[in-house]
Amino acid sequence: MAELWHGRFEGGPAEALQELNNSLPFDRRMYAQDIEGSRAHVTMLADVGLVDAGERDDILTALDQVESEFSDQSFEFVASDEDIHTAVERRVTEITPAGGKIHTGRSRNDQVATDLRLWTRRELGELRSIVIDFQRVLLDQARSVGDAYLPGYTHLQQAQPVALAHHLLAHGWALSRDVQRLDQTIARLNVSPLGAGALAGSSLPLDPDATAAALGFTSRFENSLDAVSDRDYVAEALFDLALLGVHLSRIGEELILWASTEFGFIGLDDAFSTGSSMMPQKKNPDIAELARGKSGRLIGHLSGFMATLKGLPLTYNKDLQEDKEPLFDACDTVRLTLLALSGMVSTLTFNTERMAAQADSPYAAATDLAEWLVKTGMPFRGAHAVVGQLVRRALAGEGAFADLVAASPDLGEAAIGVMTPGMSVQSRTTPGGGSPTAVSVQLERFAAILVEQTGN
Ligand code: ARG
Repeated sequence: MAELWHGRFEGGPAEALQELNNSLPFDRRMYAQDIEGSRAHVTMLADVGLVDAGERDDILTALDQVESEFSDQSFEFVASDEDIHTAVERRVTEITPAGGKIHTGRSRNDQVATDLRLWTRRELGELRSIVIDFQRVLLDQARSVGDAYLPGYTHLQQAQPVALAHHLLAHGWALSRDVQRLDQTIARLNVSPLGAGALAGSSLPLDPDATAAALGFTSRFENSLDAVSDRDYVAEALFDLALLGVHLSRIGEELILWASTEFGFIGLDDAFSTGSSMMPQKKNPDIAELARGKSGRLIGHLSGFMATLKGLPLTYNKDLQEDKEPLFDACDTVRLTLLALSGMVSTLTFNTERMAAQADSPYAAATDLAEWLVKTGMPFRGAHAVVGQLVRRALAGEGAFADLVAASPDLGEAAIGVMTPGMSVQSRTTPGGGSPTAVSVQLERFAAILVEQTGN
């Protein structure tokens, strides 16, 4: 078939132009959305009298055939297929002469915007449910570890002991916000651009409300210029995925630390770890490292695409064709990372004895000792200084910390109970706090939100 604009041009395109312009290698994955959009469009054309019922049916039948050619992989592309839109239209026109009417009142500018919204809506919906599956894994692990506890850290220094479930759910809550963000992005992108034409609407009696409804959009565009220029939803999706990727990276980083010999907090399942080609003793947390590594690429897609958008005048510019590759890659990357990390976390074993031993280091109770003094009426600043001095003396070799506490006139034997292994973690019962009792409330709230977000 000749170029779409063959009427206007005398010669054919240069090879380099064709290759640069060709988006088929990546936009072919939108074939289902292109066909769906075309069905809605041709149905509307018939309803407003721009094609007759016979032509509509011929086109719909041809679209069905094209769809099955794609699904059984018998669809044959030809050299002049510049993108998925031209390929589908070319094939429909080969199947039926009525195909020549399919592009009535439509431009690839509103067509591609429609297809990509449909694609993104479906994809983000799927990713959302994979995030929820991962949250369930965290919830299940949090439930199964019971009252196990470990040191909580600030500055990567042991700070105060917390329930292991508390730590696991902390990551779960970050993922809840990711789910919310995906929902909000889906809600905002759910506006149909179809009927905007190339940029200005049409002199033909199109009905954009009808196509919007047929495609399950909540509304149609209000401004045709905006409709074909707007790629905010791509940028938003890239941001949502970049931040989700950053969350996965932070989870990955902790798993890497925890799997190290020095921490020794977790054991990795063989199926979700790798060995070394040279060092037989090694078991490596590659998935966690890739989760950490892939986040860089996701951030790159976001900043790259923002740069693509920033200088564009209204309306459609070919630069916008650069929306798909980062978006597709970001979705693929997040999907795979989520699945792998989820498998890794669901098969982890926790070395809860080692965690407890670290958490029960006498110094971990330092804040509890200061709070014990506060309960006797001492101002917190003074209490902090009393305990701080004992820590300093113990570290200087004046005696074991517990002995110094017992000998302290402010603390003494009565305060020693605070240092009993496992005591410290139990004491922080404030709402949202790290004790097992506080965490049991949190577990229920987290589970309830998951049910709510799943919609059952
Ligand atoms: N392949 C193009 C894209 O992905 C489709 C729109 C082309 N429109 C145009 N007027 N050349 O953006």
